[in-house]
Amino acid sequence: MSNPRITLNDGSTIPQFGLGVWQVPAKDTERVVSDAFEVGYRHIDTAQMYGNEEGVGAAIAASGLARNEVYVTTKLNNNRHERAQAKESLRVSLDKLGLEKVDLFLIHWPLPTQYGGDFVSTWETLIELRDAGLTTSVGVSNFQPDHLDLVVEKTGVVPAVNQVEVHPYFANEATRAATVRHGALVEAWSPLGQGGGELSDPVVTALAERYGKTRAQVLLRWAIDRGDVVFPKSTRKERLAENIDVFDFALTADDVAALAGLDKGEAGRQGPNPDVFDWIP
Ligand code: A2P
Repeated sequence: MSNPRITLNDGSTIPQFGLGVWQVPAKDTERVVSDAFEVGYRHIDTAQMYGNEEGVGAAIAASGLARNEVYVTTKLNNNRHERAQAKESLRVSLDKLGLEKVDLFLIHWPLPTQYGGDFVSTWETLIELRDAGLTTSVGVSNFQPDHLDLVVEKTGVVPAVNQVEVHPYFANEATRAATVRHGALVEAWSPLGQGGGELSDPVVTALAERYGKTRAQVLLRWAIDRGDVVFPKSTRKERLAENIDVFDFALTADDVAALAGLDKGEAGRQGPNPDVFDWIP
Protein backbone atom coordinates (compact mmCIF):
# COMPACT_ATOMS: atom_id res chain seq x y z
CA MET A 1 0.00 0.00 0.00
CA SER A 2 1.20 3.51 -0.67
CA ASN A 3 -0.16 7.04 -0.43
CA PRO A 4 -3.19 6.87 -2.77
CA ARG A 5 -4.36 9.68 -5.03
CA ILE A 6 -8.02 10.63 -4.77
CA THR A 7 -9.89 12.04 -7.78
CA LEU A 8 -11.54 15.40 -7.10
CA ASN A 9 -14.88 16.51 -8.56
CA ASP A 10 -13.01 18.49 -11.25
CA GLY A 11 -11.14 15.40 -12.45
CA SER A 12 -7.73 16.24 -10.97
CA THR A 13 -6.11 14.05 -8.30
CA ILE A 14 -4.66 14.75 -4.85
CA PRO A 15 -2.42 12.55 -2.67
CA GLN A 16 -4.46 11.51 0.37
CA PHE A 17 -1.57 12.12 2.76
CA GLY A 18 0.60 15.22 3.05
CA LEU A 19 2.35 17.68 5.33
CA GLY A 20 0.57 20.64 6.89
CA VAL A 21 2.84 23.54 7.75
CA TRP A 22 0.53 25.49 10.05
CA GLN A 23 2.68 26.66 13.01
CA VAL A 24 5.92 25.70 11.31
CA PRO A 25 8.06 28.81 11.90
CA ALA A 26 9.11 30.56 8.69
CA LYS A 27 12.79 30.10 9.54
CA ASP A 28 12.36 26.32 9.83
CA THR A 29 10.00 25.72 6.92
CA GLU A 30 12.53 25.01 4.17
CA ARG A 31 14.27 22.44 6.40
CA VAL A 32 11.02 20.78 7.52
CA VAL A 33 9.58 20.54 3.98
CA SER A 34 12.92 19.25 2.66
CA ASP A 35 12.97 16.60 5.42
CA ALA A 36 9.40 15.68 4.45
CA PHE A 37 10.34 15.27 0.79
CA GLU A 38 13.25 13.04 1.84
CA VAL A 39 10.98 10.66 3.73
CA GLY A 40 8.46 10.50 0.90
CA TYR A 41 5.95 13.34 1.28
CA ARG A 42 4.67 14.79 -2.00
CA HIS A 43 1.82 17.04 -0.81
CA ILE A 44 2.30 20.29 1.11
CA ASP A 45 -0.55 22.29 2.64
CA THR A 46 0.31 25.92 3.41
CA ALA A 47 -1.58 29.23 3.58
CA GLN A 48 -0.96 32.91 3.13
CA MET A 49 -1.80 33.30 6.82
CA TYR A 50 0.97 30.90 7.91
CA GLY A 51 3.69 33.27 6.68
CA ASN A 52 5.87 30.43 5.41
CA GLU A 53 5.12 30.11 1.68
CA GLU A 54 8.69 31.22 0.83
CA GLY A 55 10.11 28.32 2.82
CA VAL A 56 7.83 25.88 1.03
CA GLY A 57 8.94 27.35 -2.30
CA ALA A 58 12.62 27.14 -1.37
CA ALA A 59 12.27 23.46 -0.45
CA ILE A 60 10.43 22.68 -3.70
CA ALA A 61 13.14 24.45 -5.69
CA ALA A 62 15.91 22.61 -3.84
CA SER A 63 14.19 19.23 -4.12
CA GLY A 64 14.78 18.60 -7.78
CA LEU A 65 11.28 17.13 -7.92
CA ALA A 66 9.30 17.71 -11.11
CA ARG A 67 6.38 20.10 -10.71
CA ASN A 68 3.82 17.36 -11.23
CA GLU A 69 5.38 15.27 -8.46
CA VAL A 70 4.50 17.80 -5.73
CA TYR A 71 0.96 18.80 -4.80
CA VAL A 72 0.75 22.31 -3.32
CA THR A 73 -2.21 23.93 -1.57
CA THR A 74 -2.38 27.48 -0.33
CA LYS A 75 -5.25 29.53 1.11
CA LEU A 76 -6.63 33.04 0.82
CA ASN A 77 -5.89 35.22 3.84
CA ASN A 78 -8.79 36.69 5.79
CA ASN A 79 -7.82 40.25 4.86
CA ARG A 80 -7.87 39.53 1.12
CA HIS A 81 -11.47 38.49 0.41
CA GLU A 82 -12.24 41.51 -1.74
CA ARG A 83 -12.04 40.59 -5.45
CA ALA A 84 -8.99 42.60 -6.58
CA GLN A 85 -7.07 41.79 -3.42
CA ALA A 86 -7.86 38.08 -3.66
CA LYS A 87 -6.57 37.96 -7.22
CA GLU A 88 -3.43 39.87 -6.36
CA SER A 89 -2.84 37.68 -3.31
CA LEU A 90 -2.64 34.50 -5.35
CA ARG A 91 -0.07 36.12 -7.65
CA VAL A 92 1.97 37.04 -4.56
CA SER A 93 1.65 33.48 -3.24
CA LEU A 94 2.83 32.04 -6.56
CA ASP A 95 5.81 34.37 -6.46
CA LYS A 96 6.69 33.25 -2.92
CA LEU A 97 6.21 29.59 -3.82
CA GLY A 98 8.20 29.96 -7.03
CA LEU A 99 5.36 28.36 -8.99
CA GLU A 100 3.33 29.32 -12.05
CA LYS A 101 0.28 27.61 -10.66
CA VAL A 102 -0.78 25.97 -7.40
CA ASP A 103 -2.71 22.72 -7.35
CA LEU A 104 -5.38 23.91 -4.93
CA PHE A 105 -6.43 27.34 -3.67
CA LEU A 106 -8.90 27.61 -0.79
CA ILE A 107 -10.95 30.29 0.95
CA HIS A 108 -9.34 29.86 4.38
CA TRP A 109 -12.33 30.98 6.48
CA PRO A 110 -15.88 31.93 5.43
CA LEU A 111 -15.98 34.96 7.82
CA PRO A 112 -19.80 35.12 7.71
CA THR A 113 -19.82 38.20 9.95
CA GLN A 114 -17.31 40.13 7.81
CA TYR A 115 -17.50 41.57 4.27
CA GLY A 116 -21.26 41.98 4.70
CA GLY A 117 -21.54 38.20 4.98
CA ASP A 118 -20.57 37.87 1.32
CA PHE A 119 -18.36 34.84 0.84
CA VAL A 120 -20.20 33.95 -2.38
CA SER A 121 -18.41 36.63 -4.41
CA THR A 122 -15.13 35.46 -2.86
CA TRP A 123 -15.95 31.99 -4.15
CA GLU A 124 -16.72 33.46 -7.60
CA THR A 125 -13.28 35.10 -7.54
CA LEU A 126 -11.60 31.77 -6.85
CA ILE A 127 -13.47 30.23 -9.77
CA GLU A 128 -12.16 33.05 -11.98
CA LEU A 129 -8.61 32.37 -10.75
CA ARG A 130 -9.02 28.72 -11.65
CA ASP A 131 -10.37 29.63 -15.08
CA ALA A 132 -7.39 31.97 -15.54
CA GLY A 133 -5.06 29.01 -14.94
CA LEU A 134 -3.46 30.19 -11.69
CA THR A 135 -4.69 27.13 -9.76
CA THR A 136 -5.78 23.70 -10.94
CA SER A 137 -8.52 23.32 -8.33
CA VAL A 138 -10.43 25.57 -5.97
CA GLY A 139 -12.06 24.77 -2.68
CA VAL A 140 -12.99 26.07 0.72
CA SER A 141 -11.94 25.60 4.31
CA ASN A 142 -13.89 25.82 7.54
CA PHE A 143 -17.21 26.01 5.69
CA GLN A 144 -20.24 24.92 7.69
CA PRO A 145 -23.04 23.05 5.89
CA ASP A 146 -25.07 26.22 5.29
CA HIS A 147 -22.02 28.01 3.85
CA LEU A 148 -21.50 25.16 1.41
CA ASP A 149 -25.18 25.07 0.48
CA LEU A 150 -25.12 28.79 -0.30
CA VAL A 151 -22.06 28.85 -2.57
CA VAL A 152 -23.31 25.83 -4.49
CA GLU A 153 -26.80 27.29 -4.84
CA LYS A 154 -25.51 30.69 -6.02
CA THR A 155 -22.74 29.54 -8.38
CA GLY A 156 -23.52 25.94 -9.29
CA VAL A 157 -19.83 25.19 -8.69
CA VAL A 158 -19.08 22.69 -5.95
CA PRO A 159 -15.77 23.28 -4.14
CA ALA A 160 -13.29 20.48 -4.81
CA VAL A 161 -12.61 20.16 -1.09
CA ASN A 162 -13.78 21.45 2.27
CA GLN A 163 -10.87 21.49 4.72
CA VAL A 164 -12.26 21.34 8.25
CA GLU A 165 -11.25 20.39 11.78
CA VAL A 166 -11.71 16.62 12.28
CA HIS A 167 -10.26 14.31 14.93
CA PRO A 168 -11.94 11.66 17.13
CA TYR A 169 -12.91 14.08 19.92
CA PHE A 170 -14.39 16.40 17.26
CA ALA A 171 -15.63 14.13 14.48
CA ASN A 172 -17.52 17.05 12.86
CA GLU A 173 -19.95 14.59 11.28
CA ALA A 174 -22.63 17.02 10.07
CA THR A 175 -20.07 19.06 8.17
CA ARG A 176 -18.36 15.96 6.79
CA ALA A 177 -21.71 14.59 5.63
CA ALA A 178 -22.69 17.88 3.95
CA THR A 179 -19.31 18.03 2.20
CA VAL A 180 -19.65 14.50 0.88
CA ARG A 181 -23.30 15.06 -0.09
CA HIS A 182 -22.23 17.96 -2.31
CA GLY A 183 -19.56 15.79 -3.94
CA ALA A 184 -16.60 17.55 -2.33
CA LEU A 185 -13.71 15.85 -0.58
CA VAL A 186 -13.16 16.28 3.16
CA GLU A 187 -9.70 17.39 4.23
CA ALA A 188 -9.27 16.81 7.97
CA TRP A 189 -7.15 19.40 9.75
CA SER A 190 -5.55 18.81 13.14
CA PRO A 191 -5.91 15.02 12.81
CA LEU A 192 -3.80 14.54 15.94
CA GLY A 193 -6.11 16.76 17.95
CA GLN A 194 -3.53 19.50 18.62
CA GLY A 195 -2.68 18.09 22.02
CA GLY A 196 -6.38 17.91 22.94
CA GLY A 197 -5.97 14.47 24.48
CA GLU A 198 -6.52 11.92 21.72
CA LEU A 199 -2.83 11.03 21.73
CA SER A 200 -3.21 9.71 25.27
CA ASP A 201 -6.77 8.38 25.02
CA PRO A 202 -7.02 4.78 26.34
CA VAL A 203 -9.01 3.60 23.30
CA VAL A 204 -6.34 4.95 20.97
CA THR A 205 -3.60 3.49 23.15
CA ALA A 206 -5.22 0.04 23.13
CA LEU A 207 -5.57 0.09 19.35
CA ALA A 208 -1.96 1.20 18.95
CA GLU A 209 -0.82 -1.77 21.03
CA ARG A 210 -3.04 -4.18 19.12
CA TYR A 211 -1.90 -3.01 15.67
CA GLY A 212 1.74 -2.57 16.70
CA LYS A 213 1.66 1.06 15.55
CA THR A 214 1.99 4.35 17.41
CA ARG A 215 -0.97 6.32 18.71
CA ALA A 216 -0.37 9.04 16.12
CA GLN A 217 -0.40 6.40 13.38
CA VAL A 218 -3.76 5.06 14.63
CA LEU A 219 -5.28 8.56 14.56
CA LEU A 220 -3.98 9.21 11.05
CA ARG A 221 -5.14 5.82 9.81
CA TRP A 222 -8.61 6.54 11.20
CA ALA A 223 -8.86 9.65 9.00
CA ILE A 224 -7.54 7.76 5.98
CA ASP A 225 -9.89 4.83 6.49
CA ARG A 226 -12.81 7.27 6.56
CA GLY A 227 -11.68 8.61 3.18
CA ASP A 228 -10.45 12.02 4.32
CA VAL A 229 -7.31 13.76 3.15
CA VAL A 230 -4.90 14.26 6.03
CA PHE A 231 -1.71 16.33 6.50
CA PRO A 232 -0.35 16.22 10.06
CA LYS A 233 2.23 18.80 11.04
CA SER A 234 5.52 17.96 12.65
CA THR A 235 8.81 19.82 12.68
CA ARG A 236 10.72 16.68 13.66
CA LYS A 237 12.09 14.41 10.97
CA GLU A 238 11.55 11.20 12.95
CA ARG A 239 7.88 12.12 13.43
CA LEU A 240 7.52 13.05 9.76
CA ALA A 241 8.69 9.51 8.96
CA GLU A 242 6.46 7.98 11.64
CA ASN A 243 3.38 9.84 10.44
CA ILE A 244 3.66 8.79 6.79
CA ASP A 245 4.26 5.17 7.78
CA VAL A 246 0.55 4.34 7.84
CA PHE A 247 0.13 2.41 4.62
CA ASP A 248 0.97 -1.06 5.95
CA PHE A 249 -2.19 -1.48 8.04
CA ALA A 250 -5.87 -0.56 8.12
CA LEU A 251 -8.37 -0.38 10.96
CA THR A 252 -11.33 -2.71 10.99
CA ALA A 253 -14.78 -1.15 10.58
CA ASP A 254 -15.41 -1.84 14.27
CA ASP A 255 -12.25 0.00 15.28
CA VAL A 256 -13.12 2.95 13.04
CA ALA A 257 -16.51 3.05 14.77
CA ALA A 258 -14.93 2.78 18.23
CA LEU A 259 -12.84 5.87 17.53
CA ALA A 260 -15.85 7.71 16.11
CA GLY A 261 -17.55 6.90 19.41
CA LEU A 262 -15.09 9.20 21.21
CA ASP A 263 -16.77 12.25 19.64
CA LYS A 264 -17.48 14.98 22.22
CA GLY A 265 -19.33 17.23 19.78
CA GLU A 266 -18.67 20.96 20.15
CA ALA A 267 -16.79 20.34 23.40
CA GLY A 268 -14.11 18.54 21.40
CA ARG A 269 -13.44 21.43 19.05
CA GLN A 270 -9.89 22.79 19.36
CA GLY A 271 -9.97 25.61 16.80
CA PRO A 272 -12.35 28.54 16.32
CA ASN A 273 -16.01 28.04 15.44
CA PRO A 274 -16.32 29.16 11.79
CA ASP A 275 -19.78 30.65 12.42
CA VAL A 276 -18.31 33.34 14.65
CA PHE A 277 -14.62 33.45 13.74
CA ASP A 278 -14.03 36.97 12.42
CA TRP A 279 -10.29 37.54 12.81
CA ILE A 280 -8.71 39.74 10.18
CA PRO A 281 -4.94 40.23 10.43
P1 A2P B 1 5.91 18.53 16.67
O1 A2P B 1 5.90 19.51 15.53
O2 A2P B 1 6.82 18.97 17.78
O3 A2P B 1 6.20 17.12 16.22
P2 A2P B 1 -1.99 18.45 14.21
O4 A2P B 1 -1.39 18.14 12.87
O5 A2P B 1 -3.15 17.62 14.61
O6 A2P B 1 -2.26 19.94 14.41
O7 A2P B 1 -0.90 18.06 15.30
C1 A2P B 1 0.33 18.67 15.31
C2 A2P B 1 0.91 18.53 16.71
O8 A2P B 1 1.18 17.16 17.00
C3 A2P B 1 2.21 19.26 16.84
O9 A2P B 1 2.27 19.78 18.15
C4 A2P B 1 3.26 18.19 16.65
O10 A2P B 1 4.43 18.50 17.37
C5 A2P B 1 2.58 16.97 17.22
N1 A2P B 1 2.94 15.71 16.55
C6 A2P B 1 3.12 15.51 15.22
N2 A2P B 1 3.40 14.22 14.96
C7 A2P B 1 3.39 13.58 16.15
C8 A2P B 1 3.61 12.24 16.53
N3 A2P B 1 3.88 11.30 15.64
N4 A2P B 1 3.53 11.94 17.86
C9 A2P B 1 3.23 12.87 18.78
N5 A2P B 1 3.01 14.17 18.47
C10 A2P B 1 3.09 14.53 17.18
